[in-house]
Amino acid sequence: MNAPTERHSLPDSVVIVLFGATGDLAGRMVMPAIHEVHSRGLMPDHWRLIGCAAEELDDEGFRDRVAASLDGSDTGRPADWATTRSWLRYCGGTFSADDPGALPRTLAEVREELVAESGSEPLVLHFLAVPPVAFTPIARGLGAHGLADGARVVFEKPYGTSLESFEELDAAVKEVLAEDQIFRIDHFLGKEGVQTIYVLRFANQLFGSEWSRASVDQVQIDVPEDLDVANRIAFYEATGAALDMIVTHLFQVAGQVAMEPPTDLRDPASVIAAREAVLRAFRPLDPVQDVVLGQFEGYRDIEGAAPDSTQDTFAAVRLWVDTERWRGVPFLLRTGKRMARKTQRITLVLKPPFGPLADKLDAPNTIEICFSGDGEIQLGITVKTPGPDLSYSSGKAVLELDDVPGGDPISPYASLIHDALVGDRSLYTTAEGLRAAFAAFAPLQGPERPDPVPYAPGSWGPEEAHRLAAPHRWMLGE
Ligand code: BG6
Repeated sequence: MNAPTERHSLPDSVVIVLFGATGDLAGRMVMPAIHEVHSRGLMPDHWRLIGCAAEELDDEGFRDRVAASLDGSDTGRPADWATTRSWLRYCGGTFSADDPGALPRTLAEVREELVAESGSEPLVLHFLAVPPVAFTPIARGLGAHGLADGARVVFEKPYGTSLESFEELDAAVKEVLAEDQIFRIDHFLGKEGVQTIYVLRFANQLFGSEWSRASVDQVQIDVPEDLDVANRIAFYEATGAALDMIVTHLFQVAGQVAMEPPTDLRDPASVIAAREAVLRAFRPLDPVQDVVLGQFEGYRDIEGAAPDSTQDTFAAVRLWVDTERWRGVPFLLRTGKRMARKTQRITLVLKPPFGPLADKLDAPNTIEICFSGDGEIQLGITVKTPGPDLSYSSGKAVLELDDVPGGDPISPYASLIHDALVGDRSLYTTAEGLRAAFAAFAPLQGPERPDPVPYAPGSWGPEEAHRLAAPHRWMLGE
């Protein structure tokens, strides 16, 4: 997030070790992001990448894979691809404490080769774009094969699936790595629209002064998706919408919205402390009163889904944030698959005005932050309907963030990879923060978890979810 400072500066050289290098996430998100960082001139002068995966490939075979994934991405290949291509190496085989990953040579050997090429001791950044079951064996492997010292390690989400499994995983990882080496990524925190919340609040008195229960009736964080889950049914059967999205992405976004002002926005420790303090103030969810789960019709017919599956593909929750600022203001979080459309939006629904128009307006004023794509701020405001009569209309004032002078939006993964390179942890989750998130989510994993209600594909989810938003309504899709 921050420009490199003395404390957070780019190393002269880096070796990135990408585990899961032939997988979907690496191909779709991580490799294009690394090349975006490079194309923007934000990489160290000397960088090399080692792809690691179970498959047996040679360097050339891996380079061809990367070329194909860059061709399929928004950014395409960098202008100097002929050169950067030669910076990629591949190291195949399983990797764990007992197995150094030796197809055709070990990871430690490849690393040594690259260290010799760079002429100085590089920063080693391990990026684990692998399923969570592989986190512990790989972390132990890094320790056993001398690859952990001084390295930074980025872990994909989900980092744990419950409070207990989070604690177990974190304890195992900490046998090898110190907290300040661990970067737990949540790419929603890297989105331009989410990063802009700080500045909107703290640089504009107009917004900062409204950002509390004095003016806000409720906060909605709405992430409907039209995506299907058929191509990741095994993951979905094991996870579900609430675990995939609510305790992770939506809780973190809620933390960004609800936090108290950090003392220093350029000091990661101060930003992290502010976000964690508010995560600890999340009241444990009440699964009976405050949660509606849904499952789209036809889910159980997908090959790989249990015929009687009770997995949720939709989740709406009413979260209470027990701080003085937000006392009594519900945070409504909603997400689901195969819904009417894909978008990502935070809406602060403002209280009605006092005075002569107090009871004459149909729609509440809103402050909206759209955080899909490059991001957008919208204000829902009431104006006089232009014309001879005195009547009122709601209109939208829109600011697209890529229209801001000098703006050049960066993709979330590129933004966060750059932060990891400079050692800025402001937008990475910490053990304390995730512990608080899982603790607030835990009641939904207990015996009171409600059964999911069916909803029609292409809809806005089950009708039951409407009661959570009363006396307002969900602002999207109505
Ligand atoms: C992932 C979830 O972390 O985020 C997916 O596992 C979800 O289920 C995705 O679709 C959304 O990401 P994006 O980049 O579209 O905002």
